[in-house]
Amino acid sequence: MPSFSEMSWSLAATSVFFVLMGVQPPVITSLKHKNMICDKLEECACGFPTGEGVNLTALASTTLILNDTESKVVFYFNPCTAAFGPCPNNSVICMVDDNSTKPLNLGSKGGSSFSSQGVFGPVFINYNEGDLATEIQLDCTEYAQNTTLVFNENYNRFEPSLEVKYHLLLQSPEACFKPVEGYYSSNVVREGISSGALFLIIMIVLWLAYILIGSVANHLISGATGWEMIPHYEFWRNLPTMLMDGVKFVANGCKPPPSYDQI
Ligand SMILES: *[C@@H]1O[C@H](CO)[C@@H](O)[C@H](O)[C@H]1NC(C)=O
Ligand SMILES: *[C@@H]1O[C@H](CO)[C@@H](O)[C@H](O)[C@H]1NC(C)=O
Ligand SMILES: *[C@@H]1O[C@H](CO)[C@@H](O)[C@H](O)[C@H]1NC(C)=O
Ligand SMILES: *[C@@H]1O[C@H](CO)[C@@H](O)[C@H](O)[C@H]1NC(C)=O
Ligand SMILES: *[C@@H]1O[C@H](CO)[C@@H](O)[C@H](O)[C@H]1NC(C)=O
Repeated sequence: MPSFSEMSWSLAATSVFFVLMGVQPPVITSLKHKNMICDKLEECACGFPTGEGVNLTALASTTLILNDTESKVVFYFNPCTAAFGPCPNNSVICMVDDNSTKPLNLGSKGGSSFSSQGVFGPVFINYNEGDLATEIQLDCTEYAQNTTLVFNENYNRFEPSLEVKYHLLLQSPEACFKPVEGYYSSNVVREGISSGALFLIIMIVLWLAYILIGSVANHLISGATGWEMIPHYEFWRNLPTMLMDGVKFVANGCKPPPSYDQI
């Protein structure tokens, strides 16, 4: 006959087993091996299922300028709202070159899309305007105070996107990952506790409360002592065996495992 403490340990061990098997590995593998998309939450903010993301809202009041004196082109860019300067109305990114009199709109407000190379990889903002595609890599410069827009010399040339014409790099402390509002996936919650684990913790606490209160009630009402105090003692006593049988059943490919009388 298993003692009460043996029972508790096997239940706790089963719970830990389920927390580890049921919750953590799928989260880690799905984040590592899927081609993640940073979900667009606002015009200049995106989030991952982890609750982390990029929020460039602090840059909304400035229009960034890339003035390349060599090729005589100037880019104007505001990731959050219409850019100041010569950009047409509603344009968040535009370009003026030496030969053109009219600024060329490269992206309109509302047209940003986000992509990412894995959950810890760099995030890109993409714009498509007509047949012109622009890709801006976000570079977290934690210790620099200023935000700058430069040409991206290091975009992935081995996986080139044929459509992308302009590769730019936004270097900013605002481009660093931080918690963002509004993204909670069904099975991942911030602080590393999954909702599945939280559920199990609540179940275990409720179970302990049930045993404790039930025991006190049994003792006071029917004068039970010792193991008799535990509510549904027979059920809890048999639970580890039932769980083991269940695990054996599944491990045996859902066929009844060879039983003792067959041996
Ligand atoms: C870009 O730089 C050139 C040379 O430094 C300067 O003459 C020009 O006014 C600048 N353009 C803008 C838009 O800042
Ligand atoms: C932009 O909007 C302003 C006022 O809202 C208007 O006066 C101007 O003509 C517009 N420019 C273009 C290029 O549509
Ligand atoms: C401007 O035009 C000249 C001559 O057509 C060309 O060589 C140059 O590359 C053009 N500049 C830009 C920025 O497109
Ligand atoms: C950052 O910008 C300020 C003013 O805009 C300037 O005085 C300062 O030199 C810049 N710092 C760096 C590291 O570029
Ligand atoms: C981005 O930051 C702004 C201001 O800091 C905040 O109001 C907004 O809710 C943030 N957006 C997200 C999606 O976290």
